[in-house]
Amino acid sequence: MAGPTTTVSALRWRDGLELLDQRELPHRERWMSIAGAAAGARAIRVLAVRGAPAIGIAAAYALAAEARRNPDISHIRRAARRLAAARPTGADLARAVAHVLVAIEKALPAECFEQALAAAKALHAADAAACRAMAANGAALFPGERVILLTHCNAGALATGGIGSALGVVRMVHAQGRLERLYACEARPVLQGARLTAWEATRDGIPVTLLPDSAAASLIASGAVAGVVLGADRVAADGSIANKIGTYALALAAARHGVPFVVVAPTTTFDLTCRSGADIPIEQRDGEEVRRVRRTAIAPAAVAVYNPAFDVTPPELVTAIVSERGVARPVTASTVREIA
Ligand code: MRU
Repeated sequence: MAGPTTTVSALRWRDGLELLDQRELPHRERWMSIAGAAAGARAIRVLAVRGAPAIGIAAAYALAAEARRNPDISHIRRAARRLAAARPTGADLARAVAHVLVAIEKALPAECFEQALAAAKALHAADAAACRAMAANGAALFPGERVILLTHCNAGALATGGIGSALGVVRMVHAQGRLERLYACEARPVLQGARLTAWEATRDGIPVTLLPDSAAASLIASGAVAGVVLGADRVAADGSIANKIGTYALALAAARHGVPFVVVAPTTTFDLTCRSGADIPIEQRDGEEVRRVRRTAIAPAAVAVYNPAFDVTPPELVTAIVSERGVARPVTASTVREIA
């Protein structure tokens, strides 16, 4: 059996950081060059790169690029703070920036760019390896010959440094010849499911059906799906998970109908300093994302908007959490600690 692969990547280093501009997908594949930390932080804020692990890796490379432009350590520390603050919910970002900063602090001034770049490349390679391990660990949770899965947002190659977290599991089930179909929620307001997951799956030959978020509960109730599989932006010590807004509603529906609800996240997404979901900062985004679908206005210009980017699902609604280190099932503080 050939292992799971992908033709998609979110970012690359070619004597400088390049990001596949995800705002333009699925219409256009445009790679953008990121000169340093300010451009990196902006690309993260505007979602040119998104998905917790990919954001961390992009920031790591952006800090390395900044170290090449100006290796002055107080300047680098300021740049690192700016990058780490670009988005608040994903745990990978601050961790990746801190990792590269440590490499810079330890290096001789003449070597700080090389050391920073080596640290960023190591993070990238480690995430790709974590994706492969999670794919193997997670696929075993969905036995059977004709497996139908449901996912939300994009936890794929576009969101990681490898084949994806949740979509890595989907790719593995597909590579095993067992995937009948992937259902992908569109993920309003920014449509990461419609624009990114549907594109990524189609491009890699994964059978995919797109559905509006509001159709997911009735699909789950129909008994059609063997499991819900998605990523996370932060995993707290008690097994609460933050993920794209709408995840909590899917978890409620899955629990009501006895459908496994599986979260796939590398250890870089775990933050055991958050005791519970209440400690996870939830990003609130601009109301324009809701008042418009892309550039088209769909609501009165002045209407008030509630637009949290993420929600928190408590551990009792999560059947299993998968990391590269193993599977937490049932999800408790002690099983989470074992795979963190
Ligand atoms: O706002 P986004 O697109 O960065 O949100 C991404 C998600 O919620 C993903 O599910 C999560 O980061 C996991 S990606 C492997």
